[in-house]
Amino acid sequence: EKGGWSSFMAKEISEEPEAISKTLLGRIVDGAVRLSELDVLGEGALANIDRVVILGCGTASYSGMLGKYAIEKWARIPVDVELSHEFRYRDPVINDRTLVVSISQSGETMDTLMAVKYAVAAGAKTLSICNTQGATIARESDAAIYTHAGPEVAVASTKAFVAQVAALYLFGLHLAQVRGTLSPEEISGLLGELQALPDQLATVLEQHDAITQLAGWMTDTRSVLFLGRHAGYPVALEGALKLKELAYIHAEGFAAGELKHGPIALIEPGQPVFVIVPSPRAKDSLHKKVVSNIQEIRARGARILAIAEQGDAAVLPYADLVIPIPLASTLFEPLLAVAPLQIFAMELAAAKGLDVDQPRNLAKSVTVE
Ligand code: F6R
Repeated sequence: EKGGWSSFMAKEISEEPEAISKTLLGRIVDGAVRLSELDVLGEGALANIDRVVILGCGTASYSGMLGKYAIEKWARIPVDVELSHEFRYRDPVINDRTLVVSISQSGETMDTLMAVKYAVAAGAKTLSICNTQGATIARESDAAIYTHAGPEVAVASTKAFVAQVAALYLFGLHLAQVRGTLSPEEISGLLGELQALPDQLATVLEQHDAITQLAGWMTDTRSVLFLGRHAGYPVALEGALKLKELAYIHAEGFAAGELKHGPIALIEPGQPVFVIVPSPRAKDSLHKKVVSNIQEIRARGARILAIAEQGDAAVLPYADLVIPIPLASTLFEPLLAVAPLQIFAMELAAAKGLDVDQPRNLAKSVTVE
């Protein structure tokens, strides 16, 4: 069943391009989004919401952060992202103008299910983004957008994450379409970029061997930090989560801008730091700011492992290793930048002789609260 791969996780990472293309399949028609599964919400339902709340746990909460960035940018609706298990215990403000979007690969995570039930009882509209056909959370929700990543067997979520992001982006563009916040030309352009991602991601996966080699050198590492900014921030959090759960190494992800507010004190000679570097082409100053973060920590002895856009010469003098990713717009970069971190965590765990498909103390689907 592993199809020649050493683990289900390795196989599932190799299926990521397909997970994205299958999630997009049939949902883009003539340069516009077509999500017929949302019709059940009724005419005008999405035009009338004034807030979106995204719920999920672990990896699903990080795809949710990217969903927030996309929905706010494209559809101009305020979005909150919250861990499912925090949500219902703090008396959140939700009503019939709130859309609650739950994200769950299994569709059975008890924390998320209970949060969705709470939202239904409070009168909110509910949408589930789910990878498992007919799962409980999807059934409890008003509507469901299924990700078509295929069954995910390894405990650590990989291809489901990229499929969730693709589904959230489709949904964000659908909202923009309904609410008229982007022109049809802008929407069709962004959909074209989304459709190009599977091929671009396939080229990133070709770097598997180089990342395996890096992981092989790091089996004695006690701590790894991950830095990202804007769309790179959830990628940093996900990279750290993967390393903790698979290789049992202390890892933390930070927003790069937060460094000087505390975490820079952790930097000592030899500390490995993965940095997800924003594109130098983006029309903001984030590339420059992150490169200057790199210079600051490098001066304090950090070992820099950069995930940067192909041809980004500015990081070369300061990086111990650069993993290049193809050119993409800011919001699409995470879909290219996350795989190297998944591969790194998997290969480091494998190099330590650990079971990458079944890490200790974890279950694939957490059905208790
Ligand atoms: C991390 C991981 C977990 C799950 C989380 C939610 O690799 O697998 O963090 O993402 O338990 O699970 P689902 O998506 O099934 O609700």
